[in-house]
Amino acid sequence: MGVTAVVGMCLLLTTTLGQSVARKTGGGSIETGGSTENGSPGRADHLTDDTSSPEIVIGQTVDTGNDVTIGGPTGYVGRLLVVPMDGSHWVGVKAITEEMGRRGHQVTVVIPEVSMRLGPSSNCRTVSYPVPYGQETVDMLMDKHKDNLRAATLPLVERMTQRMANIQSVSSFILTTAESLLFNTTLITSLEQQGFDAVLTDPLVPTGSLIARRLGVPSVCLLRGIPCGLDLTSAACPSPPSYVPRFFTKYTHSMSFSQRVGNVLVSLVEPLLCRLLYWRFDQLANRFLGEDVGVAEVLADTAIWLLRYDFTLEFPRPLMPNMVLVGGINCHVRNPLPRELEQWVSGEDGFIVFSLGSMVASLPEDITLVFLQAFTLIPQKVLWRYSGPVPGNVPDNVKLMKWIPQNDLLAHHGARAFLTHSGTHGLYEGVCHAVPMVMLPLFGDQPDNAQRLASKGVGVVLDINHITVETLLQALDEVVNNPR
Ligand SMILES: *[C@@H]1O[C@H](CO)[C@@H](O)[C@H](O)[C@H]1NC(C)=O
Repeated sequence: MGVTAVVGMCLLLTTTLGQSVARKTGGGSIETGGSTENGSPGRADHLTDDTSSPEIVIGQTVDTGNDVTIGGPTGYVGRLLVVPMDGSHWVGVKAITEEMGRRGHQVTVVIPEVSMRLGPSSNCRTVSYPVPYGQETVDMLMDKHKDNLRAATLPLVERMTQRMANIQSVSSFILTTAESLLFNTTLITSLEQQGFDAVLTDPLVPTGSLIARRLGVPSVCLLRGIPCGLDLTSAACPSPPSYVPRFFTKYTHSMSFSQRVGNVLVSLVEPLLCRLLYWRFDQLANRFLGEDVGVAEVLADTAIWLLRYDFTLEFPRPLMPNMVLVGGINCHVRNPLPRELEQWVSGEDGFIVFSLGSMVASLPEDITLVFLQAFTLIPQKVLWRYSGPVPGNVPDNVKLMKWIPQNDLLAHHGARAFLTHSGTHGLYEGVCHAVPMVMLPLFGDQPDNAQRLASKGVGVVLDINHITVETLLQALDEVVNNPR
């Protein structure tokens, strides 16, 4: 009875909402425009330039000359506390952190002693706190992604069990890290005494937001979005399920009737997902702040939301006045290529940049072989960020590197295509420099990101678990030889 009532309500809701949207889109006022227009280089450049609003432009970050007016145009020098999240989320926070430091603000970054990617940044003071685990634990967690890839071929039940186990270990790792900072009274007290003006953080892990509330200072959040929509709830930002596709659905803004029903159902489950994701942090908030609040209330304090996307990636949707779109902010952090690399990539046929992100350094052997075989059959050179074992020979046109200057390579005129896992940083680097993409989404927001950009004609999506030499060659041919 209850279920029927809910489904009935959903149906009613989608039809009415759907109709109102149909009316709006009918006028063409909120259409995103044709795929060719959005995919063209000029358009992409224009969009990214637009979003770097004056306060957060980080162009010419690399030439640390004397051209900086200390404190920026207003001359105000502030104290900023940065509580970053580990992993690829560090990229964007680091870009802003270093630029703030370069402009003469006093920036303090607080990081765990052991981490995947965190480390000292220039122009800032870094404070590290002890954690009860070692580098082996971190390395082991990073290797889990490979297990996940392999698990894709396992039977459903085993796959689910393995996924759940992985999620479990990652979330208790995150919680332990947060506790090590929040309950280090010496450190928290010293932070309290330093008179910070604001906290910059990624609220997907809400440690920084909790500290901001404790210190009684405004928080600035940089994020792609919280999968259960908690960020939007906290910001009181409307997100109508009739035309705002939910995370994990891979839908676009023009949904069929059944997709809209699905989208509404997902939006109804979101509060439950939030609870699942954040109940332990809710308890932590309670203990740390000594007041009866959960993560949702704490995030509601957020002064400014810096969103790591814009309408290149997103579909039309409401925003609040304190939301600033900064997609592509990392594109401007650029350096010339090292001479040796410059020489290697030069050549008539250009080159392909291949990276599955900072979290995936190696692949199962059979998948690696598919890539290597396909690469022997193309004229372009391939720069592959890969540090795992290589079965057999590496073809002459392929260079494996532990780390690649991804943005600098994509900015190079020889870049013909970008093989990417579709994290937002990489996607924007591709879009900024107008390099067409073959997207191989792995987890999290990546499948949605890939689908969104593909729907705008920026690239094609492949399933890495079922990749073959033919499908890969076809996809590369499509993006390299069919310029859009
Ligand atoms: C708290 O962090 C500081 C470093 O910032 C460290 O010296 C100290 O040992 C930590 N205290 C505890 C109890 O872990």
